[in-house]
Amino acid sequence: MQDEEIRQKIASFDKWHYQFDLRGNLTSVRGKNKVNRHKQRKRHFFDPVVQLFGGSLEGKRVLDLASNAGFWSLASVHAGCDYVLGVEGRQMHVDQANFVFEVEEVEEDKYDFLVGDIFETDLRQFGNFDIVLCLGLMYHVTKHVDLLEKISEVNDDLLVIDTTLSKASGSVLKIVRQNVENPLSALDYNLAMRPTRQAMRDLVEVFGYLVATLEPDFRNENGKPNWVGGRDYKGGSRRAFVCSKKTDLSSLPVKVEPA
Ligand SMILES: C[S@@+](CC[C@H](N)C(=O)[O-])C[C@H]1O[C@@H](n2cnc3c(N)ncnc32)[C@H](O)[C@@H]1O
Repeated sequence: MQDEEIRQKIASFDKWHYQFDLRGNLTSVRGKNKVNRHKQRKRHFFDPVVQLFGGSLEGKRVLDLASNAGFWSLASVHAGCDYVLGVEGRQMHVDQANFVFEVEEVEEDKYDFLVGDIFETDLRQFGNFDIVLCLGLMYHVTKHVDLLEKISEVNDDLLVIDTTLSKASGSVLKIVRQNVENPLSALDYNLAMRPTRQAMRDLVEVFGYLVATLEPDFRNENGKPNWVGGRDYKGGSRRAFVCSKKTDLSSLPVKVEPA
């Protein structure tokens, strides 16, 4: 694909959630906050998961739920995974993801992006997955138990959840309003339920996972704290959980919060 074609295609989409560098052509996101946010999120939970597997996802099959424009699927491919399946409810995001993967020249047998509501999709038809990424989704749904049931059925080992949390006390799902017109929001209803930290732990433990809640520590390349775009992590209203059925989580190379 030529540069001009890449630029035209980038511009043809209304909104981008991530800044991709597509052969020197940047997708435009609003504000530097978002750029740093996703960079820090990757440092925070994705890179440690890759480290947990010895620095490579070679041999792993990854399921990326709510895959949006394929940012985490691409990170998985860059980390060496054998295959990634992205499931995303909005056609525009899947078009973006396919475009990103085409420009990046990812081999076609290494990935698929599927448009569909996760709750309407039989994930079992795609086989089992070593790693499931459930990022930015748990606070856009109402059917948490169904979601974990569906995940657990196809997940052999690791589940990574990154979610906004309710700061209510106890094991609670708090109802919050959503706007289905917002492409980053819920698909089905104009409401969702936001879990507390304890609810998140209870939910995954019932499905047989051991869980580590990661302590966020956002820093720039020079090791200086950098919370730009990450105030929710700093304030405790967002957390990443690494959940495991098999892999020993004690070698996670990051600080873990007390249960
Ligand atoms: C906040 S974005 C998160 C994107 C990405 N996973 C991340 O964490 O950076 C939420 C995404 O979930 C998708 N989504 C919400 N509910 C969904 C559902 N039931 N099935 C499939 N996708 C859904 C939205 O279309 C949107 O792309």
